[in-house]
Amino acid sequence: MRKKIVAGNWKMNKTLQEGTELGESINNYLKKHNPGQVEPVLCTPSIHLAAVTDIVDNNIIKTGAQNCSEKESGAYTGEISASMIKSAGATYVILGHSERRSYFMEDDDLLYNKTITALKNELKVIFCCGEVLKERENQNHFQIVRRQLETGLFNITDQQFLNVVIAYEPVWAIGTGVTATSQQAQEMHHFIRGLVEEKYGNTIAEDTTILYGGSCNAGNADELFSLPDVDGGLIGGASLKSDDFCKIIGSF
Ligand code: PGA
Repeated sequence: MRKKIVAGNWKMNKTLQEGTELGESINNYLKKHNPGQVEPVLCTPSIHLAAVTDIVDNNIIKTGAQNCSEKESGAYTGEISASMIKSAGATYVILGHSERRSYFMEDDDLLYNKTITALKNELKVIFCCGEVLKERENQNHFQIVRRQLETGLFNITDQQFLNVVIAYEPVWAIGTGVTATSQQAQEMHHFIRGLVEEKYGNTIAEDTTILYGGSCNAGNADELFSLPDVDGGLIGGASLKSDDFCKIIGSF
């Protein structure tokens, strides 16, 4: 069955103490208000992962990193490996976020290698895709998303793909307060599900979780999550406040 997920992407925010407080507060709320079939995920800065994973009830809340190295281990100063993330207790890793693609020059080939390494280390991958404004204005958005998925992701096996969640994040909606309209979100999610079907078949496509990201908040989550091909959200700014994030989880 298709899993519903609400994942918070904390980005480079919160000190360790603030992060553990946020994790604790979300945990306290969700222990009282069972999120039901929705899986909440906290994608914290890597240095907070072990502490936040320890503080939350892992039967209810999962944790994840926001990036990992494509290398297994070795002399790569400053990098963080998939096995380190796994050993900190995390379940997920976000790969291909537009901020990694644009500020850190991560391309499709690198993201494919990162995906393979993460999956080998038994992490689940939240794989991000999405077009910039100019690409949408030029009507290239479907083509861009197709390329990102076909080159960066789709060479993995069926078995590996079962551990992948796709996040569609139109770059023009990230952190801007501008959200994709329901029609724009639904048509792209439907398109993405169709691409998964072409490559992996109908059963896997129907079971694939596709998240929407980009200024999703407590005010618009209801509408976005009611769309047939939207299975949850990847939440940036609104995941930094416990009340807002818990309200979004309650939107299903
Ligand atoms: P936003 O970020 O919710 O602040 O727009 C989403 C994301 O970048 O994952």
